[in-house]
Amino acid sequence: MKKVDVVLGLQWGDEGKGKVVDVLTPNYQVIARFQGGPNAGHSLHFGGQSYVLHTIPSGIFRDGSINIIGNGVVIDPVILAQEIAQLEASGVDVKSKLLVAKKAHLILPTHRMLDAASEASKGKTKIGSTLKGIGPTYMDKTGRNGLRVGDIISPAFEERYNRLKEKHVKMLGQYDYEYDIAAYEKEWFAGIEVLKQLKFIEGEHVVNRYIDEGKAILAEGAQGSLLDIDFGTYPFVTSSNTLCAGVCTGLGVAPSRLGSVYGIFKAYCTRVGSGPFPTELFDADGEKMREVGREYGSTTGRPRRCGWLDIVALRYTVMMNGVSELIMMKADVLNDFDTLKVAVAYKVNGVETTEFPYETNEEIVPVYKEFKGWKQDINGIRDYKDFPAEFKQYVEFIEKETGVPVKIISVGPDREETIIR
Ligand code: GDP
Ligand code: IMO
Ligand code: MG
Repeated sequence: MKKVDVVLGLQWGDEGKGKVVDVLTPNYQVIARFQGGPNAGHSLHFGGQSYVLHTIPSGIFRDGSINIIGNGVVIDPVILAQEIAQLEASGVDVKSKLLVAKKAHLILPTHRMLDAASEASKGKTKIGSTLKGIGPTYMDKTGRNGLRVGDIISPAFEERYNRLKEKHVKMLGQYDYEYDIAAYEKEWFAGIEVLKQLKFIEGEHVVNRYIDEGKAILAEGAQGSLLDIDFGTYPFVTSSNTLCAGVCTGLGVAPSRLGSVYGIFKAYCTRVGSGPFPTELFDADGEKMREVGREYGSTTGRPRRCGWLDIVALRYTVMMNGVSELIMMKADVLNDFDTLKVAVAYKVNGVETTEFPYETNEEIVPVYKEFKGWKQDINGIRDYKDFPAEFKQYVEFIEKETGVPVKIISVGPDREETIIR
């Protein structure tokens, strides 16, 4: 029986999921997003062009692919319509390749405003949300108030929209926050018209039928495991299950139908927004990672915080996802470092641990192991045997510590800059 393979991020997002899905899609007929929404920004580079996707699966560029926005995703019709328009302008036939689960929830204009008002009220304790309305939309989903894609075709849709909007307006009254709904609302209803041109599906039935038919399916995660609502660095997380478990609820696939789990990590670490980051660097090394790695948000343009690879956190997310294959990204960013450090344990209040702790807010002091840098340009390498010895030591140490093989190594943003072992 064919199973659903999964690609997901093992750190705090932006690991390079978009590139990996694009590289893997020739092996798959169906690509499905299972959670998150336009807080995601997945970048792809090929043929001298760059693209950023927020809601649409990264398989959309491949001819003959089927791309599904699953029930676990939250959709802002304005952003989706913009994405479709940009892709169509580049010659991609989106509408014939994109299916949308009826059970996916809609992000309303007032969800965005509630997100912004809530963040503004938090001052220094803010999450650093992308302000796309993600938290309030998932709150309405679990609070059983949400509007779903399947509701759009109901004659009562506008009435239900207005009822939810009024509820939000009352909630917004509790904040000292100025807003103007009218302009965004007009765009939103225009976006709904674009959404109506897509094929709405009973996602769980369609995905299971595809599995039965033997189609190869790849589930594409958004964000990263350390942003998971249950197991991430709470409360500095997103509002969905970014872990592998999210594939089951976000597409309607039973756990026994999951296959390979590809866990993606950067050769170092980044985080955008607030929250704990034990190996964060505030020195020239961190600055160098940011500049060489162009670590600025794909969705918000914010500079990303940078730091050394964290094996304590990586082992944790490998465990939580049942990762079967590792994919190491952006190795080229470390080309010019004399010494590389990797956190192998934490000291929490003076006590050493190799387990990712509950309280990640307090002072955590990483215990580092040092590696000699390879000090050479590896971007042109296409065969593992050609990597310098120092590079292989780094990779093989990660494999030993996690117990999982590194199957793919990425040495540049382009599709071609990829080594499959
Ligand atoms: P995603 O959200 O996980 O899809 O990742 P993003 O697209 O937000 O961020 C990853 C960034 O790194 C993008 O700008 C990619 O083009 C870029 N990138 C991906 N792989 C590599 C790589 O191996 N080397 C370098 N230098 N850049 C890469
Ligand atoms: P991709 O899919 C990196 C972060 C935000 C913030 C927190 C909550 O591109 O890897 P939210 O908007 O969800 O309320 O924000 O999560 N965040 C991401 N960081 N990559 C992402 O997606 C992210 N999506 C959300 O910066 O700290
Ligand atoms: Mg991103």
